Amino acid sequence: MSTRRAMKKVSTAGARRRAEQTTRAESARPTPRPASSSLAALLNVADAEAAARRAMPRGAFDYYAGGAEDERTLARNRDGMDRWVLLHRVLVDVSRVDLATTALGAPIAMPICLAPAAFHRLAHKGGEAATARGAGSAGTLLTASTIASTSLEDIAVAATGPLWFQLYIYKTRDIARDLVARAEQAGYRALVLTVDTPMLGRRERDFRNGFKLPPSVKMANFEKYGDQFERWNAPGGMAARVHELMDHSLTWETVEWLRSVTSLPIVLKGIVRSDDARRAVDAGVQGIIVSNHGGRQLDGGEATILALPDVVDAVAGRAEVYVDGGFRRGSDILKALALGARAVFVGRPYLWGLAAGGEAGVLRVLDILRGELELAMALAGCARLSDIDRSLVRPA
Ligand SMILES: Cc1cc2nc3c(=O)[nH]c(=O)nc-3n(C[C@H](O)[C@H](O)[C@H](O)COP(=O)(O)O)c2cc1C
Repeated sequence: MSTRRAMKKVSTAGARRRAEQTTRAESARPTPRPASSSLAALLNVADAEAAARRAMPRGAFDYYAGGAEDERTLARNRDGMDRWVLLHRVLVDVSRVDLATTALGAPIAMPICLAPAAFHRLAHKGGEAATARGAGSAGTLLTASTIASTSLEDIAVAATGPLWFQLYIYKTRDIARDLVARAEQAGYRALVLTVDTPMLGRRERDFRNGFKLPPSVKMANFEKYGDQFERWNAPGGMAARVHELMDHSLTWETVEWLRSVTSLPIVLKGIVRSDDARRAVDAGVQGIIVSNHGGRQLDGGEATILALPDVVDAVAGRAEVYVDGGFRRGSDILKALALGARAVFVGRPYLWGLAAGGEAGVLRVLDILRGELELAMALAGCARLSDIDRSLVRPA
């Protein structure tokens, strides 16, 4: 058996085992499992953010927390949650609430996954390996970023749950092709092509702070491609360097090209319009993540929870639809599931957990969200994910 197939087999079995274990544990364990005492004191994602703020240098915290320009879209993602209200069902047996599901066929213990985020070592020295273990312990999926501070191979070795690989395509197309081959080889289950970043959004906090990567934080996937990708702290800073590297001419042909170089499922991340969603499905993608990059790209854009229903309708079951942006409570996640999302991705929440306590902090935040979703489902009269439908939400 090839290494790739062997790794896939191992990680599939591992993920399934963990998903089963977590689901079994869930019924016996109504409250989140205890972490270390300071992590156990975190009651919600906002507490984790406050802990991360204390743990991180200002520049790194702002790099994580910030959005583009006036940060209107960043705020709107949160405000959008209040534009929907829940209508709970009563007198349903919710003595056992089952959160287990699948993402493109990979079993996951809950419909909460980890969005790709650059440079986890800014939060914690354990970096992406710690995140991968935390995600695996929670029985869920991590999407590793092209610009991770740990190589995709090392993340795969550390991971105990399923992995997707997020792809940025830079000017040197051969590098993208090689990254795809490496992700396949290492056992990643899908490629997530981020399509909302033809150029980098203007993140003014980073300019104000003169933010630079510390020397210990590298763009690890690019080390083998030589020195040209390592000059991240050249004059003009990180944003200028990313801008220089990016291919600003990507089109729908790029999706076709990607299709031609891989047999892995393709997910497009960063779609908010129904016409783009339809086109993506016509181009043969298996998944869509409704996303505005957590408000870090086009400022003035729509909240993703408001964009979601049109995309779900346009896709009409021909691909799996996911959403990210501003999910901080289990009840937010329940609304997205009611609007047709298969699962929700979170970005900053797990980064806050990582900063607050490494692997255990990631697990703590995921446990908090899982517990909140479980409670919200029970209170809304849903024992299974299949009980969640659009009748549960109404515009506020
Ligand atoms: C610090 C940070 C780094 C990110 N890096 C990437 C990345 O490398 N690739 C990508 O596709 N999205 C990236 N994103 C966007 C996330 O994948 C996701 O869309 C967003 O964080 C979701 O919003 P939330 O943080 O409110 O949950 C990043 C987000 C943050 C906060």
